Amino acid sequence: MRTIDWNEESNSVVLVDQTLLPQEYRVIECKTLSSLCEAIKSLRIRGAPALGAAGGFGIALAASLSGAKDIEAITRDLEVAAKALKSTRPTAVNLGWGVNRVLKAVSDAFDVKGVRDITLQEAMDIAEEDIETNKLIGKYGSKFLKDGDTVLTHCNAGRLACVDWGTALGVVRSAIAEGKNIKVIACETRPLNQGSRITTWELMQDKIPVTLIADSMAGWAMQQGLVNSVLVGADRITQDVVFNKIGTYTHSILAKEHEIPFYVAAPISTFDFKGWEGSVKIEMRNPDELRFSGCEQLAPKDVEVYNPAFDATPMENVTAIITEKGAFYPPFLLDEVLV
Ligand code: MRU
Repeated sequence: MRTIDWNEESNSVVLVDQTLLPQEYRVIECKTLSSLCEAIKSLRIRGAPALGAAGGFGIALAASLSGAKDIEAITRDLEVAAKALKSTRPTAVNLGWGVNRVLKAVSDAFDVKGVRDITLQEAMDIAEEDIETNKLIGKYGSKFLKDGDTVLTHCNAGRLACVDWGTALGVVRSAIAEGKNIKVIACETRPLNQGSRITTWELMQDKIPVTLIADSMAGWAMQQGLVNSVLVGADRITQDVVFNKIGTYTHSILAKEHEIPFYVAAPISTFDFKGWEGSVKIEMRNPDELRFSGCEQLAPKDVEVYNPAFDATPMENVTAIITEKGAFYPPFLLDEVLV
């Protein structure tokens, strides 16, 4: 099944609960906006493109739940829902992009039913297009991978971070589909372990060779000649930097030091055409994510903690950004991406 979808029978957003992986694969239903917002905040649904779809489906859900009798009233309800959805996670630009795209489509509606139909159709289109986009990213990205390569990746930029296929892992899938032998080194991605819990699980489901390492082992793996390229996704790409899961910046420095190419695979919806590093809010997460692992205490309960969810990799560390429109080689102007 897709990572996130709409269930027509129950009028709800259905999604794979990624907090339970790899022990359990469970699909949950979000029948209210607050349950969807909770799912986003707690990372049951996560990854920039999947958040774009969640934003779109969230507006469709709000439209379906609204008791409004006229178009002005339902529009007000959708604006409240948009605010709630956007406030769940601040860094991935795709979430707001998905919300805004569906809100914009509402201007074509003449009545309340029209708003409901249009919001759902637009959200479904976002989900459908995400898969096509990822296949194109895969097509353009696979030329950077040679038969026999080993790719180091961080966090999860796979099908579980998207509606399907994946961005960084989509490139790996496309290269394998072309007949190349590709292996993946997955960094565990502390503190929430998207690499060890999700990336390894999804690759093993597809029988793609994967080796798990702790984040601190990446430099040594590169020094030992075990890594041909680094391939990651992105949460927001501004003119000067790529925001992605905390730890990505460190890999970019290590790749530069070892003269290993560093690729970012992301859809155009991840670009922030107005943003600069300093203008973007990096999400700070609960200190207990570091003090505990599940129920197990790993550190003194009251230790001071610094827990940013993302970091910013300067463009000079990036070899190429692979999008559905092809690859862009820094330095480039973001306007070139729009052409
Ligand atoms: O906090 P998360 O798990 O949502 O962070 C996800 C990432 O950083 C991914 O690398 C990014 O969203 C790209 S997903 C294709």
